[in-house]
Formats: sequence, C-alpha cells, structure tokens
Amino acid sequence: MEPILKVRNLKTRLKIGNDIWTVVDNLNFDLFHGKTLALVGESGCGKSMTALSLMRILPNPPALPPEGEVIYQGTNLLALSEKEMRKIRGAKIAMIFQDPMSSLNPVYTIGNQLVEVAELHLDLYGTDALNKAAEVLTNVGITNAKQRLNDYPHQLSGGLKQRVMIAMALMCEPDVLIADEPTTALDVTVQAQVLKLIRELQEKSGMALLLITHDMGVVSEMADDVIVMYTAQGVEKGNADDIFFECAHPYTVGLFQSRPSLQQQRGKLQPIPGQVPTFQHMPSGCRFHPRCPYVMEKCKKEVIPDFIILEQQNHTAKCVLYDGTEESELNLTRLNKVKETL
Ligand SMILES: Nc1ncnc2c1ncn2[C@@H]1O[C@H](COP(=O)(O)OP(=O)(O)OP(=O)(O)O)[C@@H](O)[C@H]1O
Ligand code: SF4
Ligand SMILES: [Mg+2]
Repeated sequence: MEPILKVRNLKTRLKIGNDIWTVVDNLNFDLFHGKTLALVGESGCGKSMTALSLMRILPNPPALPPEGEVIYQGTNLLALSEKEMRKIRGAKIAMIFQDPMSSLNPVYTIGNQLVEVAELHLDLYGTDALNKAAEVLTNVGITNAKQRLNDYPHQLSGGLKQRVMIAMALMCEPDVLIADEPTTALDVTVQAQVLKLIRELQEKSGMALLLITHDMGVVSEMADDVIVMYTAQGVEKGNADDIFFECAHPYTVGLFQSRPSLQQQRGKLQPIPGQVPTFQHMPSGCRFHPRCPYVMEKCKKEVIPDFIILEQQNHTAKCVLYDGTEESELNLTRLNKVKETL
C-alpha cells in the first residue's frame, strides 16, 4: 500500500544564541490510509517540533526551515511556497494542538472561527458556511450546535473546547490529522470520549492519524504503528504489537518499566535512572548511553545505526545490542530477562 504521507530524513534545527540545536534528527516514517502512527517519548524529545515541521508552522525564530522530505501526493511539502502550502495546511493536513486555547481565538465566537475555515478552504459563505459549522459541531457530538456557534471559547468546558478543535480540524475532511497530545488536558472520562470520537471519525473518513503522546495507555488503545523518540531521534520503530510485546531498545524497555498505571499496581514502578540530556551536553555515540543498564565501550563512541529486528514488520532499533557480537549477545540476554518481568 502506498503511504499518504512519506517523511524522509526530516531534520529541524533551532538557532539558540550561537548554538544550533537539532531538535528533530533524521526522522523517517510513513502514514497510511485509515491507520494510526503514535509518536511517543519523554517531554522535550521533539514530538511537537516534528508536528510543527510537517505543518510548516515552526516558531521562527528560533527555528530554521526544516530539511528533508515530506512527500504528500508526490510533492515535497517542504519545497512548496508558503502560498501553495496554505492550500494544504488545514485542508488536506490538519492539526489538533496540545493546548486548545493556542488555536481557538478568545475574542471570536466558535461560529466565527468555523465560518472562517469554511470560507477559506470550502468556498462556503453566509448561511451555507453557518450550516456547515453547525453540522461539524453536531458530528463531534455537540448538542444544540446552532446555539453553541454564538459561544466564546471561555464559555466552554475543556472537553467541549477539544471537541470544537477536532470539529475545526476535520471540517475539510483532511487526508492526514496530526493530533498533539489531544487529551492530556482532559480528565480520564472525557479523554476516553475524545479518543473514541477521533477513532470513529477516522473509521468513517479513512484519514491517517499521527498521534503524539507520552501515554503508553493511549498508544495501546489507538496505535497501529509506533515510533519511540529519544533526544530528537527515532530510537525504535515497529507495529504496536512488536513494541508492546517484543520491544527491543533499552529505552523502550525503560519506558514500560516506568509506566505508572500497570507497574504501580504490581509495586514495580522503576523510573529510568538519570536525566534526559540537554542539547548543550549531548552524549557522544548512543545518546542513551549514560542512562543505559547495558552500556558497552562501543556505545560511547560509535554513531549507532538502526538495526533490523524483524524485517517483514519493519521493526528497527537504534542499539548495538543487535550487532551479533558475543559481548552484545551477553547483554541482550540480560535485557530479555528484564523483558520477561514486564
Ligand atoms: N521556542 C523554543 N525555544 C527554544 N527551545 C525550544 C523552543 N521550542 C522547543 N524548544 C526545545 O526543543 C526541544 C523539543 O521540544 P518539543 O516541544 O518538540 O518536545 P515534546 O517532545 O513535544 O515535549 P512535550 O512532551 O513536553 O510536549 C525541547 O528541548 C525544547 O526545549
Ligand atoms: S547502543 Fe548501547 S548504550 Fe545505547 S541503548 Fe544500546 S546498549 Fe544501551
Ligand atoms: Mg509537545
């Protein structure tokens, strides 16, 4: 199957004073029709920067223009003019933001904001635009949609604001939806409702979903494929079953060990020791080596390639435990013992 969106060697850099930080470092992935790819990792690993790069809405400064390729229908979006990109952004590729208030304008009513999208992308005006706005609110489960159009964002609860954002993002029936922590700000019940809603809308329209989260529970419910990010790099990739039952990278194993909901119940919560490194002090070799229980001398020096774990499944891990040497095999046995306790 041909992917809807192909991302190749995506690289995003920030210019901070005299330093250049690479906050998205050679990311590669495909998004498929009707499927969900989850991007997971600790805070600051570059998840939102990846999303903003795909949409080409990075804060400038400090961001430099993203490099690499984002191929949509045979066209590299990173090479388009801003005018051409405006036809795609919001219409073909839409985004739900981490913070709803950052994309809802507090001084305009919900109706005004939805009508603006209808005018810009759907060529609908007047009553037609208003009817479309009411229709999309109804589709995301908002009752009395016509009256709601007159509300200002601050008059809505967190769950309702998130539904309005989803309605706005889905108004033009995009091929790709990027959802950046769409439910983090919501309580657990509303979170479940919003995720269910996104899934239903996805089943109806067949859009591809890039779901950004740090919550492994959300990943297990939603994802077909997973990329685990650490310090700007994709360190493990695979389908959701492989990541959940056959995870290969010590960082992914660490994420599962530290997952509160499951492990706390069994009294086994083990946070990953050490801190995420800063961009000023990025470790040489494998960036995870100062925190890795299986670290070897070679990890500290070499640039670590992606090793294939299971070729048919496109399962890869950026870790030398899979280089086939005797030293690595011994450490791999230790890792596999830990995996049995997960
Ligand atoms: N405007 C900015 N100025 C300086 N640094 C920034 C800026 N925006 C992001 N960064 C840095 O870029 C890196 C990647 O940030 P990003 O927001 O993509 O992380 P994230 O994975 O989305 O984290 P979170 O889970 O907290 O949302 C971080 O180290 C962050 O500090
Ligand atoms: S490359 Fe070495 S330090 Fe990095 S995760 Fe693998 S074993 Fe650990
Ligand atoms: Mg973020």
